[in-house]
Amino acid sequence: MAETMRAWVFRSSGHPSKVLKLEQDWPKPTPSGTRILVRVKAAALNPVGYKAMVLPGLRWMQKKPAVPEHDLAGVIEGGDLSGTDLKVGDEVIGFVPADSTMKSGQGVLAEFTLVEKNLLTKKPDNIKFTEAATFPLTTFTSYWALKRVAGLTKGSGQRVFINGGSGGVGVYAVQLAKAYGAYVVTTCSPPSRKLVESLSPDDILDYKESDLVEQLATKYGDKPFDIIFDTVGHNSDLYYKSPKFLKKDGHFVDIAGPHFESNFISILGAGVELINRNLRPAFLGGVPRKYKFAMMTPAEGELDEMAQFIREGKLKAVVDEVFPFEKALAAYDRQMSNRAKGKVVVSIAGDA
Ligand SMILES: NC(=O)c1ccc[n+]([C@@H]2O[C@H](COP(=O)([O-])OP(=O)(O)OC[C@H]3O[C@@H](n4cnc5c(N)ncnc54)[C@H](OP(=O)(O)O)[C@@H]3O)[C@@H](O)[C@H]2O)c1
Repeated sequence: MAETMRAWVFRSSGHPSKVLKLEQDWPKPTPSGTRILVRVKAAALNPVGYKAMVLPGLRWMQKKPAVPEHDLAGVIEGGDLSGTDLKVGDEVIGFVPADSTMKSGQGVLAEFTLVEKNLLTKKPDNIKFTEAATFPLTTFTSYWALKRVAGLTKGSGQRVFINGGSGGVGVYAVQLAKAYGAYVVTTCSPPSRKLVESLSPDDILDYKESDLVEQLATKYGDKPFDIIFDTVGHNSDLYYKSPKFLKKDGHFVDIAGPHFESNFISILGAGVELINRNLRPAFLGGVPRKYKFAMMTPAEGELDEMAQFIREGKLKAVVDEVFPFEKALAAYDRQMSNRAKGKVVVSIAGDA
């Protein structure tokens, strides 16, 4: 008889509190080809996890039934590890990309999962499993935006503005940009300030104090940025008025996109706005600055550099709260509040 395991599973679309159930006899996956079996000790949540259940577009693409989520730390159980420096029993950090989970329905919020061997790296000894799980998606996203799209280079002293310094992506984007030697300016609300200060950005703007775009234009109009990384979205003016504080050859990278409600007109409006931002040339009234909105992708070598930065203390885990496996629905409530400071984590098998 096939072995089973405990897993959080959704069989239809809807709010996690309605559709996500803890199943006791979900089939335990079997390693094959390049996919390695990992016993999951901790998983970190990301907005894309619940968006695959609720968001029009994503929820239509999601195969069901499915186990959600993408970021994990755990222990290698088996599989063909040839060509790697890994072995059975190694403690690892791993990542299952959203496009893979969408197609296979196999995510990481379960006792076991399968991970491509090139998306595993040894867990640094100086962090716990619940900390280790917080890095992959958000740090890969930061690499994608800052380095691969916008050309962040080590030691170049580039000027970087990161909107949303206390969020899951923001806390790692700030640290990565600092590790690359950039001058980093970021935003947060007053309750998050202490946390963001601990990440050592060069300046922090309180977006609640007064209009953010005005603050940027006043303070940075005469020393514009090379890169703007928007992890919050919603405020279209940040892009439309960016020529006031972004260099002519600077990059504006957006991962959140325009805000939209769950109805056809609103979704259409956001789509038109994205096309406008991406394609409208300056001579037709478009913003004369490069704009990019897309889904992140992981890249070879970044997971290993990430682990090295963790060992050197240049990347520190920022954990908002750890929830036990059985309380994953409470973890989703926290993730969906849009107020988490750093990462929301689910502990699956203790942290020893
Ligand atoms: N395109 C991609 O590939 C990709 C990849 C990763 C994430 N994303 C998207 O990026 C977005 C952010 O993800 P996340 O994991 O960082 O989310 P998150 O952790 O849920 O973000 C919560 C944080 O947002 C901050 N925040 C809320 N409104 C803000 C505002 N107006 N200005 C500045 N900060 C604000 C809050 O800080 P305060 O309480 O201090 O305001 C809170 O710390 C999500 O929409 C996610 O889906 C996209």
